[in-house]
Amino acid sequence: MQYFTEMRLLGSQSVEKRRLLIGGVSCDELADRFGTPLYLFDASDAREKIERFVSAADATGEAVSIAFASKANGALSVLKLMLDAGLDVDVASEGELEGAVRAGFPPERIQMHGSNKSDAEIETAVRMGIKTIVLDNVRDIQKTSEVCESLGRSQNVMIRLAPGIHPETHEAISTGQDDTKFGFNISDGAARDAVERISRCGLLHFAGIHMHIGSQLMEGSGIEAGAHRMAQFAIEIRPMVGTLEEINCGGGLGIRYLPSDALEPIQSFVSRIVGACTKPFRDLGMPPPRVGFEMGRYFVGEAGSTLYRIGRIKTVPIGNGKTRTYASVDGGLADNPRPQLYGAVYYALNASRPDEPHDAPFRIAGRHCETDRLIPEVHLPAATREGDLLLVQCTGAYNFSMASNYNRYPRPAMVIVADGEPFLAVERETVADLFSHERIRSTIGTIRQ
Ligand code: LLP
Repeated sequence: MQYFTEMRLLGSQSVEKRRLLIGGVSCDELADRFGTPLYLFDASDAREKIERFVSAADATGEAVSIAFASKANGALSVLKLMLDAGLDVDVASEGELEGAVRAGFPPERIQMHGSNKSDAEIETAVRMGIKTIVLDNVRDIQKTSEVCESLGRSQNVMIRLAPGIHPETHEAISTGQDDTKFGFNISDGAARDAVERISRCGLLHFAGIHMHIGSQLMEGSGIEAGAHRMAQFAIEIRPMVGTLEEINCGGGLGIRYLPSDALEPIQSFVSRIVGACTKPFRDLGMPPPRVGFEMGRYFVGEAGSTLYRIGRIKTVPIGNGKTRTYASVDGGLADNPRPQLYGAVYYALNASRPDEPHDAPFRIAGRHCETDRLIPEVHLPAATREGDLLLVQCTGAYNFSMASNYNRYPRPAMVIVADGEPFLAVERETVADLFSHERIRSTIGTIRQ
């Protein structure tokens, strides 16, 4: 495990008068007012990431459309921030679609995904007239076409492609290789066949091709290679469908979970991917399609952090005369399953002692009934005590959206800090909420004696 001597502060985090502040509000005040564990969201950090991405896109001089992948953080207020920032939104389920609508997205700014869409999801999307449905398989093509026929409506569609690229990331979030459940493979002709099928469906308007090769990618070469393949494919199918409106490269750009993580500069990431999509067209003297992105983690990951209260601290022998000190927090697996699922690592600060040297090793454990290591090793002040606050950075993506109630713990609240003001965007669940959908009868069957 790495040892970080310099304290890392992200976004609007700062240390003043021995207190850790986010957007000018102190972590103590936030914990006192809203309780812990608490999801915090620094609106200025998310806005800055969006602005950087948009200016990198503008600098390419090509037409680029940018969406937010709502699965990364579907809190309505986060979606509203994305809406106000001018982004489109992508949804992958009926619930995410409803979230986008509730946040105020008009249908023409919503794009729908899903590798196993229900008939009801397809029907709702067509009825609403959303911007695009990304068709993932032959059944999607048939069903969407049938729904369009029965409603007498046309629908913009794209197809999701598996470009045959295996990105460098955790297996569970690699999706671009041939051996995947997602999309039509280019290599075996399935993608070409899909285009032919769509061109026979009068009410499906073939708007483009899409891929999403994986997530938490620290540089763009995998996406660039996939983009290049998609551009070749788009040129190949031109005689059948003309010039496509869009080549969509999905999301995937990572964030710096640890201070030592290096991320490709955003200008270079965007320009080489846009270039891979457009250059093959320009070389042939043809106008290129628009290039689409749908970033999730990059826009919200570093903006989010989780504030916990440290509980029990204990030191145990681990052999060879060595010891390990466990600090347990009042959350863990249920509010952040990523360490267990993907071996994800996080960086944290003692928010009650931000000015003390963080040089003593601790293992941060959750409060759940299994060995839930939230952070296998992090350095905190040696004086860290029960009752201190711990701020875990970079939890803005796929924490709120993947949270569970394991061990019957209510899900945390989420506070958005914007313009120096905390705003309670998601209320803390109560223990009563945990039982609100359950029924119990006086007898459940009979027990034979
Ligand atoms: N577009 C599509 C079609 C996607 O499936 C995804 C993410 C994105 C865009 C956004 O990807 P991002 O920019 O966030 O990498 N639960 C995992 C991540 C799963 C990503 C699924 N798809 C995690 O916690 O790491």
